[in-house]
Amino acid sequence: MKLIIFGPQGSGKGTQAEVLSAKLKVPHISSGDIFRNQIQSQTELGRLAKDYIDQGKLVPDDLTIKMIKDRLEQSDAGAGFILDGYPRTIAQAEALDRVVNIDQVLEVWISDEESLMRLGGRRSCPVDGTIYHLKFNPPKVQNQCDKCQATLIIRQDDTEPVINKRLAQYHQQTEPLKKYYQLQGKLMAIDGRPPIADVTTEIFNKLGII
Ligand code: AP5
Ligand code: MG
Repeated sequence: MKLIIFGPQGSGKGTQAEVLSAKLKVPHISSGDIFRNQIQSQTELGRLAKDYIDQGKLVPDDLTIKMIKDRLEQSDAGAGFILDGYPRTIAQAEALDRVVNIDQVLEVWISDEESLMRLGGRRSCPVDGTIYHLKFNPPKVQNQCDKCQATLIIRQDDTEPVINKRLAQYHQQTEPLKKYYQLQGKLMAIDGRPPIADVTTEIFNKLGII
């Protein structure tokens, strides 16, 4: 299954994509995670993307489109994937349509107030990317990844002013994708407000996954 999951910051794209990826046995491809890995590895792409990400701006389309195209060409993505955080602009969606046929698009929606509240409590594993929340999904041992025991971090772009900029970008540049995928008959709206497991159940039900 070739899926896109999109929604505002903190809506649970990464959280739900991890579950879907394990269930469907297809890779979870997160544009944000790829950029963060590139920054950590100090590659040329990481260097170019860093300032945009730190300021809560979108990385330019040409860089992002090429990066995702290269990732989708890898053999593990042939049978399916969950795309998280891409596309974020109409130009990115059109570029994607030129290389693959997407089956379904999940739009997970929450309010801006909820986004701010959730991201304030997010902790992430810098090694395997597992996502936690201090209150809603805490690690078993405080500040330690359940899977690899690494010390959890707060993402650099999870400060209130940067989150507000990211949300503004979302409403301006990414929300028009709703209409784009509605016209293709692929959009499924998912209420992102309930607890994590309930959102997962709604996604599985809507996709017909048992
Ligand atoms: P990216 O990493 O994709 O960040 P984002 O879009 O801001 O989304 P987040 O990762 O913050 O939220 P999420 O929806 O994944 O929520 P999560 O599951 O973690 O992108 C980062 C940056 O990279 C961008 O700003 C941009 O600069 C650049 N970039 C990336 N892609 C790009 C592109 N295509 N084009 C250009 N630039 C690009 O959950 C959040 C928290 O809430 C967690 O703590 C979680 O435990 C908790 N939580 C999740 N679900 C629930 C629930 N149902 N109830 C309670 N808590 C919950
Ligand atoms: Mg994410």
